[in-house]
Amino acid sequence: MAQDDLRQLVDEALVALNQAQDPAALEEARTRTFGKKGRLTLLAKTLGQMDAALRVSFGSALNEAKASLMDAFDTRAQILSQAALAQRLQTETQDITLSVRPQQEGTIHPITQTLDEIIAIFSAMDFTVARGPDIETDWNNFTALNLPPTHPARQMHDTFYMPAQGEMPMVLRTHTSPVQIRTMLGQNPPIRIIAPGRTFRCDYDMTHTPMFHQFEGLVIDESTHMGHLKGCFEDFLRAFFGIEDLPLRFRPSHFPFTEPSAEVDIGCSRKDGALVLGNYGDWLEIGGCGMVHPRVLENCGIDPEKYQGFAFGTGIERLAMLKYGIPDLRTFFEGDVRWLKHYGFSSLDIPNLAMGLV
Ligand code: DAH
Repeated sequence: MAQDDLRQLVDEALVALNQAQDPAALEEARTRTFGKKGRLTLLAKTLGQMDAALRVSFGSALNEAKASLMDAFDTRAQILSQAALAQRLQTETQDITLSVRPQQEGTIHPITQTLDEIIAIFSAMDFTVARGPDIETDWNNFTALNLPPTHPARQMHDTFYMPAQGEMPMVLRTHTSPVQIRTMLGQNPPIRIIAPGRTFRCDYDMTHTPMFHQFEGLVIDESTHMGHLKGCFEDFLRAFFGIEDLPLRFRPSHFPFTEPSAEVDIGCSRKDGALVLGNYGDWLEIGGCGMVHPRVLENCGIDPEKYQGFAFGTGIERLAMLKYGIPDLRTFFEGDVRWLKHYGFSSLDIPNLAMGLV
């Protein structure tokens, strides 16, 4: 009797599970069989009333039926979920051609951008980029550049002195000029480099910060003269500011590492407090330069009878402030996100001469 019930139950459960067309219907059939009030559960409860012999044989038949039904349900569940997935894959679409939504982006710092512009211009003039360390020997920073220990220019520099390395006093480099020395010691002429980087002096006000950036230029060859220096600086400044007739003035000056030396001014107007670059009769200092002093060449093992060269140096912040209208030097290094958003550049705005730099 109970065996018949069991067989019928199994048959009906198999029909129900095969008829189930989705996971919900299958789950319902499963509950109707195995749930608390399910048919199999109820049938199992009748075991208690059976006599011992029957209980053993029916009990094992019941267990077998239960195990094979559970398997059947699991298999059907898998088939249904695979069918559901196949259905979704056929009907759902995802448009991967949608354009990227604008995201919160970082910006390129004006110093980095300006530096990339400088490098783009000088690369086109066949210069390579040289680098030197921030912590420099006193010899590279001063002595080799023809500033002996007693030279007053050393005081002018407001130097940050660092712990000595052995006998050698060390400094945070006060200018990028020591990279001239490193380059001349490391390679033979002809030399054509620019050397950008951080520089340090004890100073802090609207136009001075203890850390700032400079770049240096150095050209050494057998027949370089001051005309090359002027042409080079002029080409650079005109390309950088995008002003073709920007006037330049070379004013006699003094640097211990150049002879003759000059300071370079560019034309501007300061009418009504607004600074505008161009041919307006007023002048603004932009950098220093000169022909490399023979003693500096000698210090680097280069024969000054055979080679001459020119050098120049200028502040990168100053160029950025003038070009991008940034009034206060200190803001460059405050890390104010609003400032960075305002003055920063898109990471895709990579400076190159072909696209123009202004
Ligand atoms: N090193 C100088 C400074 O820090 C700038 C400078 C002047 C660099 C003349 C040069 C140069 O290479 O020839 O103010």
